[in-house]
Amino acid sequence: MPKSTVTFMCSECGGESLRWAGQCPHCHAWNTLQEFQVRKAGPGRKQAGAPSPPTGSRPIPLSEIESEAAPRRTLAWGELNRVLGGGVVPGSVVLVGGEPGVGKSTLLMHAAQQVAARGGRVLYASGEESPQQVRMRAARLGPLSSGILLLAETDLDAICEAIRAEAPEMAIVDSIQTVTDAGFEGGAGSVTQVRESAGRFMRLAKEIGVPIFLVGHVTKEGAIAGPRVLEHIVDTVLYLEGDRRQELRILRAMKNRFGSAEEIGVFAMGEAGLEEVPDPSAALLANAALTAPGTAVVVVLEGTRPLLIEVQSLVMIIAVLEKRASTKLERSDIFVNVAGGIRITEPAADLGLALSIYSNTRDSPLPDGLVAIGELGLAGEVRRVGQLDRRLQEAARHGLTRALIPAGSKAGRPAGLDVVEVRTLAEAISAAFSSPMKSGAFIREAEASVT
Ligand code: TYD
Ligand code: MG
Repeated sequence: MPKSTVTFMCSECGGESLRWAGQCPHCHAWNTLQEFQVRKAGPGRKQAGAPSPPTGSRPIPLSEIESEAAPRRTLAWGELNRVLGGGVVPGSVVLVGGEPGVGKSTLLMHAAQQVAARGGRVLYASGEESPQQVRMRAARLGPLSSGILLLAETDLDAICEAIRAEAPEMAIVDSIQTVTDAGFEGGAGSVTQVRESAGRFMRLAKEIGVPIFLVGHVTKEGAIAGPRVLEHIVDTVLYLEGDRRQELRILRAMKNRFGSAEEIGVFAMGEAGLEEVPDPSAALLANAALTAPGTAVVVVLEGTRPLLIEVQSLVMIIAVLEKRASTKLERSDIFVNVAGGIRITEPAADLGLALSIYSNTRDSPLPDGLVAIGELGLAGEVRRVGQLDRRLQEAARHGLTRALIPAGSKAGRPAGLDVVEVRTLAEAISAAFSSPMKSGAFIREAEASVT
């Protein structure tokens, strides 16, 4: 056993502590601190984690350094290339995180098939599933290729040796939480094992120029070390998100040493695996129940991409009569659903959501072709949002005909889109409904703020 010192590391956020505690002092998660061995950097042995420069390195004038050592290799899917920053960078280590079952293995098998389809070789090390299971999945996705080499292995040394020996165009390790280094204590998935393995893969990738993709499961329990423990080590961190019961999957760049960390790629999970969705707004609006009460369309920005999204609300009125009489939302339970399982965090969706709820309480749908853009202040004022031009263009491109925007916003007027500026929620309701109902909580709240 090598000499080591011990600290404690949170399996959720990767924060380090010198002492054990029941609660992580960094992210405040409970029972997530795990013993973490820091191997002493002895002679001939580099410290875990940090990528080491090749031995015998010397300082080089900046002007003599080649701009990009090796060009990126693009995959068949533009959605994947976009999130990677334009393609796969040789020698990079990419962590693909996500909850179990979201589609990480499927996504990476697609990538492997795309590399193999143009004659490249891929090494797929699987510690999660048997070779038969991996073969079955691959067969669902496309023709089986001899260019994909499967290695059923969890031993770190054995995987590294195989990558070195095969020198493939791409290597995939599924998952990092199954890999163990026999030289370290702690079972598979412990922070020590996960970090040591990732550090080794980093050094190997840099040394031989092979890009390595690591799958990392996100768990809520903290029983195994989550991907965040590795975020500082690897070059690129991508998270695959989506509701398992729905089709849409979003691959989100959280960190990228080789590109923007704001990009997203959109995919749909179907019978034959994933498909890329180059025009997500169209897909998101395709099944929209736009003529039903409680539905509104908003435009949110994901990185640089505007997405048209349908928000729905359901207002469960405790006393139906009360609903007919006036709008007393304090007596109601309100359920909000965002189409496609997308998480909206942007305040620009506020106005759409408020209109959706109002439309519900009035039991009448919002007009066809309407999109609502704006943040709501507590006094009912509609506040300006960023990148309005981009949002309006996306709405116009998808055939929406009327946009409510915050008053005073500077934006062009795309052809075919009737743009209406609104100052308050009350104005927005008047603009949205031809015969506005001058009662109800929103109206009263909004009118109070109108000067
Ligand atoms: P998987 O890639 O195994 O998820 P992860 O590696 O993130 O754990 O995907 C598993 C889910 O995807 C599973 O619920 C079944 C579904 N799926 C399909 O719907 N269609 C398909 O063609 C494939 C391969 C998987
Ligand atoms: Mg998997």
